[in-house]
Amino acid sequence: GAPVRVNISKVEPGQQVVAEWRGQPVFVVHRTPEIMAGLEKLEPTLADPDSKESDQPSYVDPKHRSIRPEILIVVGLCTHLGCAPTFRPEVAPADLGPDWIGGYFCACHGSRYDLAGRVYKSQPAPLNLPVPPYSYETDDIVIVG
Ligand code: FES
Repeated sequence: GAPVRVNISKVEPGQQVVAEWRGQPVFVVHRTPEIMAGLEKLEPTLADPDSKESDQPSYVDPKHRSIRPEILIVVGLCTHLGCAPTFRPEVAPADLGPDWIGGYFCACHGSRYDLAGRVYKSQPAPLNLPVPPYSYETDDIVIVG
């Protein structure tokens, strides 16, 4: 499939847009400073916090998993059986519990990921959401693929 050009200039802090690449959803999130701080706190609860086993290009940071810290780009397919997880950025929603500080929830079998696409321990999903190859054409334009 051809690379896909995504304009990220209109993605507000705390928001996600979904692009499509090779027939797969690609989640693009503009992370806030609060979200970035939360990522570090979650590490003891994650299965692969440094993404050693997970799929990502060598040029992304192993923890926040992006080129620019605030912009997350991941393939939106659960690593269990491939459902699309739901973006759930809110803190402590009733259905996800008081410890939830924002992440992805896969409704198919309940896998939970943080807002770096890193899976929690003891979930049906074994690995973090993959990070696709990508680069910045300009500050506002990302090329995925
Ligand atoms: Fe996501 Fe099974 S496909 S938990």
